[in-house]
Amino acid sequence: MTSMTRRRLLASAGAGAAGIGLAGGGYLVGRESAEAQELNGTVPFYGEHQAGIDTTMQDRLHFAAFDLETESRAELRELMRDWSRAAAEMASGELVGDVNDLQVAPPEDTGETVGLSPSNLTVTFGFGPSLFEKARLRLQGRRPRALRPIPPLPGDKLNALESGGDLCVQACSDDPQVAFHAVRNLARIGRGKVVMRWSELGFARTSSTTRRQELRRNLLGFREGTNNLRAEDTEAMRSCVWVGEGDRPRWMRGGTYMVTRRIRMLLELWDRSSLGDQELAIGRNKYDGAPLGGHEETEELDLNAISAGRPQIPDRAHVRLAASVDPDERILRRGYSFTDGVDESLGELDAGTFFICFQRDPARQFTAIQRRLALSADSLNKYIRHVSSAVFAIPPGARPGGYVGEGLLGR
Ligand code: HEM
Repeated sequence: MTSMTRRRLLASAGAGAAGIGLAGGGYLVGRESAEAQELNGTVPFYGEHQAGIDTTMQDRLHFAAFDLETESRAELRELMRDWSRAAAEMASGELVGDVNDLQVAPPEDTGETVGLSPSNLTVTFGFGPSLFEKARLRLQGRRPRALRPIPPLPGDKLNALESGGDLCVQACSDDPQVAFHAVRNLARIGRGKVVMRWSELGFARTSSTTRRQELRRNLLGFREGTNNLRAEDTEAMRSCVWVGEGDRPRWMRGGTYMVTRRIRMLLELWDRSSLGDQELAIGRNKYDGAPLGGHEETEELDLNAISAGRPQIPDRAHVRLAASVDPDERILRRGYSFTDGVDESLGELDAGTFFICFQRDPARQFTAIQRRLALSADSLNKYIRHVSSAVFAIPPGARPGGYVGEGLLGR
């Protein structure tokens, strides 16, 4: 057995210095500061929380949901152990597995990232509600109360085959090949125990999770993430995102809950709308991101402002309906733009936002906001369709030598 890192593989192949520019991130334990992370291109897998939630958002996403094929809890435990180990290896720039340079055996790692930096790869694992319904696993009594399927919501046009899942893997990286490699290798490791149910590629972030990170634009051309929670808002992260010390079940403490929604945008319709209508639908200026009637993107939304006898931010504007009166309702948004070829029935791009958000209690947070958006006829509804939906419990991070889900599945 040989332990072959990407760096050693390159060195043994005589690769030049440019190709060996990998960080020594494998030796770091605990969460690095965001600055250190950007400098060396690695985000440690191990830590109090899983990476890929409050860590700086990368540009690319490969998301996959899996269904469990095995009925054995021991096999599920082995899967999570193997997945965690592989994710830690990939995040630090190592090849997956020990057997990668034997002529007589298939390499454990598929090889397409040799010579590439991890580019801040994070891998985040989650458990769906259906996992806890499998009688043979005997996990029914351990299911968190907050982990319930998202109820049908007005306006939903969900495709069941692209929704739900027993397990999920969120791989994010600044290099699309690195994110792809992570999902591919985890699927390979899981063969026989899990089967992939659906997956989504995201090509550009639509949010930011740290204050230092510049905002990007979504496919409607608007800057998004302005009023998002950020890692620096430690008090709000504690009350709105992380499962707390007093919360149950105990195995979720330090974890959170993730909701995903694949939201199709009807771009041709949007592109025929006037700039004025687009801004009224969102409630902000398109180009500078300021609230309607305001001057700066960062200024607070004034929902009471009146102009010529009318609310400056219309009653049905997205930001008015999405804004939370209850501060504990706020969510951490971490979505990506996607495009999946052509919608043949309409002859237009199948594109939109793969919306991801993290919160302490999906019913009280995501579902409450989305119900308001749907029932109060958010002006944006005309231009979007929610076509897939899923929810996952995201356990806390693992310690070196441990694995994600250890609190649930045991040693
Ligand atoms: C494709 C669908 C969507 C698009 C294009 C979109 C776009 C935007 C934009 C441009 C903003 C203003 C800037 C910002 O603060 O980020 C915003 C704000 C926001 N959106 Fe969305 N959004 C979408 C779906 C959703 C969904 C499904 C939810 C949650 C259920 C949501 C929740 C929020 C929240 C909480 C805010 C901040 C409101 C505030 O307090 O100012 N959005 N969105």
